[in-house]
Amino acid sequence: MNENAFSAQLAIIGGTGLYQLDRFEEIERRTLTTRWGAPSSEIVLIKNNNTSVAFITRHGFEHNIPPHKVNYRANIWALKEMGVKEIISVAAVGGISESMPPESIVIPDQIIDYTYSRKHTYFEDELDAVQHIDFTEPYTKSLRERLLAVSGDLIDGATYAATQGPRLETAAEIQKLKRDGADIVGMTGMPEASLARELEIDYACCALVVNWAAGCAGTTKIEHPQMLKIVNKGMLRVKSVLQALI
Ligand code: HPA
Repeated sequence: MNENAFSAQLAIIGGTGLYQLDRFEEIERRTLTTRWGAPSSEIVLIKNNNTSVAFITRHGFEHNIPPHKVNYRANIWALKEMGVKEIISVAAVGGISESMPPESIVIPDQIIDYTYSRKHTYFEDELDAVQHIDFTEPYTKSLRERLLAVSGDLIDGATYAATQGPRLETAAEIQKLKRDGADIVGMTGMPEASLARELEIDYACCALVVNWAAGCAGTTKIEHPQMLKIVNKGMLRVKSVLQALI
């Protein structure tokens, strides 16, 4: 690879609470454009020893793009164009399963998609043939295992329910997700994961539980300030996980 190129093998997509990878040397940042539109933010190229890593914020640096308005196609496409082969997606989620309380860091292994009306595929126009990607295992096993090897504190395996947002769920909706088999709930897991698969990029998620999902563990209301406290504290731990991985 050309040393001066704006390229990287690994990319981190930062979610709520993760707007910079400040423990690394920043090499360059660029505003990229794609045939699918503009990515959520500039892409920052960072370096650790000899490893270059691309970093993009899913909601923008100012956190002003809601989950249903994120241009997931542009984000993943821009990373692909940089030569990215692996993506770690960082996400703040609600905990449904009793074994995933706030402050847990979870490496999910399954997804149920409840989102709608999002631009969710690259395969819609000018096709030679209809494409159906395999999505039996939505996250890349080897990448999940590398994350899990970093720290014994990470929870191995969970079903991530991707909801539309931006509102949080009702208690009844969470009960339905639980009956469906969901362990954690977030608003950005899809179509990000399937778009990465469409472009044949390995993809794993590092999910920080920042609240009990609606109605779980006696929760009667999800309080934003409390959630923010856990985001700020927990993302420091997530940064350590990423640092060890990189
Ligand atoms: N529901 C959906 N998305 C979330 C939640 C939640 O409870 N917490 C953080 N992201």
